[in-house]
Amino acid sequence: MAIETVPEIDPQRPSAARVYDYYLGGTHHFAADRQAAAIALAAMPELPTVLRMGRAFLRRAVAAAARDGLDQFLDLGAGIPAAGSVPEVARAIRPDCRIVSVDLDPVAVVHTRRVAEGDGGSAAVLADLTDADAVLGAPAVRALLDLDRPVCLLAVAVAHFIPDTERLGRALERYRDALAPGSHLVLTHACADRSRPHARALLRIYNHTTSPMILRECDELRAFFGDWRLVEPGIVPAGDWRPESGDPDPGPAVRDEIIAGVAVKT
Ligand SMILES: C[S@@+](CC[C@H](N)C(=O)[O-])C[C@H]1O[C@@H](n2cnc3c(N)ncnc32)[C@H](O)[C@@H]1O
Repeated sequence: MAIETVPEIDPQRPSAARVYDYYLGGTHHFAADRQAAAIALAAMPELPTVLRMGRAFLRRAVAAAARDGLDQFLDLGAGIPAAGSVPEVARAIRPDCRIVSVDLDPVAVVHTRRVAEGDGGSAAVLADLTDADAVLGAPAVRALLDLDRPVCLLAVAVAHFIPDTERLGRALERYRDALAPGSHLVLTHACADRSRPHARALLRIYNHTTSPMILRECDELRAFFGDWRLVEPGIVPAGDWRPESGDPDPGPAVRDEIIAGVAVKT
C-alpha cells in the first residue's frame, strides 16, 4: 500500500534525507538534522567526502546507462534534489529522459515535485521502496515509464536504511521481474567494519532518525543483484567503479566503505 496519504513531518526527529541534504550543502534541513549531522561529523570527519564519492559514482552510473541508450529512470530512495541529480546527469546525454523519483520522506518528495514543476517527463512518488507493487502501480510510474522497454533502476545509498534483508531482497526481485531485458540495476551500500568506532557512532546516530541504518558485509551485496548480470568492474568500492579524474577521494582509511555495482537484466 502506498503511503501517499500520510505525509507526516516531524522536525524534532532527524531524517536520513534531510541529514544527507545537510552533508551535501543543501538547505532543506531542521535543527535536529544539523545536530545529528554534527555528531556524525565529529565521529567521522571524512563523511561528506565519502558521500560525495558515492554521488560521483551515481553520476557515472547514470551517464553510463544514458549512453547505453536507456531513457527511463526509476530512482528508489532518491532523496532531496541536489547538484548532479539523476535528471540533470541523464538529460545532459538524453534530453528526452523520463525520471520517476521514489522516497518515503515527505520533504524529499515535496522538493522533488517543486523542482519538477512544469516538467512533464519527471515525477516523484511518496512510497516505501520495499512495497514494490505500490511503486510499480503508482500513477506516475504507469504514466511516465514504459515497463516493456529497459529502465535504469537506481537504489543508491538507500539499501543500508532497510534492515529487513529478506524484505529488501524480495522487493528487488519483484522489480527485476517487472522490468524489461536490458534494464540496469545500480546499487550501493555502506559496508564499514562494525567494530570501528566511527561505524558504531554512525549506527547509534541513525538509530535516532526516521531511517535506522544497517551495515552489511560486502559479500551480502551479491545476493541483492540476484539474476542480474554484473557489468565490469563488478561489485567494487564506489570510487573504483569506472573512476574519472577529479572525483572526490576521502582517503584510504574510509574509501572502501561504500560498495557499488551495476548489473543488466539479460
Ligand atoms: C542517503 S539518501 C540517498 C539519496 C540519493 N539516492 C543519493 O544517492 O544521493 C537516502 C534516501 O533514502 C530514503 N529512504 C530510506 N528508506 C527508504 C525506503 N524504505 N523507501 C524509500 N526511500 C527510502 C531516505 O528518505 C533518503 O532520502
